[in-house]
Amino acid sequence: MAAPTLPGPVLCVVGARPNFMKMAPILRALAAHVPPLPTLLVHTGQHYDADMNDRLFADLRLPQPDVNLEVGSGTHAAQTAEVMRRFEPVVDEHAPACVVVVGDVNSTLACALVAVKKHVPVVHVEAGLRSHDRRMPEEINRVLTDQVADRLYTTERSAQANLEREGIAPGRIVFVGNVMIDSLLHHRELARAPAQTLRAAGVDPALLDHRHGWGVVTLHRPSNVDDPATLRGVLDTLAAVASQLPLVFAMHPRTRAAVERAGLWPLLDPARVAVLPPQGYLEMLGLTAGATLVLTDSGGLQEETTALGVPCLTMRENTERPITIEQGTNTLVGHDREAILGAVAEILLGRGKRGRVPERWDGHAAERIAADLWQWLRRT
Ligand code: UD1
Repeated sequence: MAAPTLPGPVLCVVGARPNFMKMAPILRALAAHVPPLPTLLVHTGQHYDADMNDRLFADLRLPQPDVNLEVGSGTHAAQTAEVMRRFEPVVDEHAPACVVVVGDVNSTLACALVAVKKHVPVVHVEAGLRSHDRRMPEEINRVLTDQVADRLYTTERSAQANLEREGIAPGRIVFVGNVMIDSLLHHRELARAPAQTLRAAGVDPALLDHRHGWGVVTLHRPSNVDDPATLRGVLDTLAAVASQLPLVFAMHPRTRAAVERAGLWPLLDPARVAVLPPQGYLEMLGLTAGATLVLTDSGGLQEETTALGVPCLTMRENTERPITIEQGTNTLVGHDREAILGAVAEILLGRGKRGRVPERWDGHAAERIAADLWQWLRRT
């Protein structure tokens, strides 16, 4: 009897940095499934710098994309439109069995829209997360991608309720767990030593030898970095934290440009704050796993710190990942200087949140996706 087959490949889309660690375990699981599901990896080129792209691909052992759309940067409208324009002929050429998109970046929505209009089933991984803040570009991408998706895989139970409230049929939703944590557990042993990471960036690793250890900082949300007055306030607060605890700040290109434009470098004392370029996956994992605390506005780091048991102070007013607060190590601190300094003081006294690892964040989410996807595609 001939092996069961699909009508075409599973077309997997990545565009920006936070997509890479989500897609890597999915590709592995689709290949390891019995029978294997054929895949085609499309990179939109939303992120293209060596720091934002190449190092992550190497660290995660992602295969080179079969197709690179090379869209690069632009306004939201221009970037989204360009991805759509360039993605359409790829779908025409390869006639995929479905299009798998992950997360909430512009590439996620753009490719989902192209696929649904061509009657190609759309699969969304990390569906149903909601910040309920429509000023976040990612929130718009999440809501719209979920509306056009045919199969929705969720990371936490609250996502199911969000989706049902928006009218998504419960039968389309599957709670599989967190593929980002699959990546974290898979690479944990390979994490790079923090001293080595600092040395490679030309920073004296003695900075890490503080009695309280070190904090890790990442910031890139428009709401934190685009307005110079807001950014000044944020950096001022970081300087106050740095007087208690040395900080390693892996700086996103958007943030670097904003600091430069506003002339705010003097706020970051190099003796207390090591400013590094965006780091590879294994470097970031080593820095984070060993940190005393993390200060961030990233979505992924809120989850990774919860899985690692490292206290996380999230410099936002809301989060689409409530489980990291309810069960994990995350605390929302916004821009409130007193709240931030108070939380840091508690953590330095050893009273930070330790939390527990949420349900199904067990390293096997991608396998659940592969098993379900195979069954589902065979039925549709
Ligand atoms: C994007 C995602 C965000 C994600 C973040 C992780 C959207 C709407 N946002 O935001 O959800 O958390 O990626 O990094 O999709 N740039 C470079 N090199 C690059 C890529 C970008 O220098 O390789 C610079 C460009 O100046 C660009 C700016 O960063 O204009 C912003 O890049 P963009 O992809 O528009 O959004 P991010 O802020 O990275």
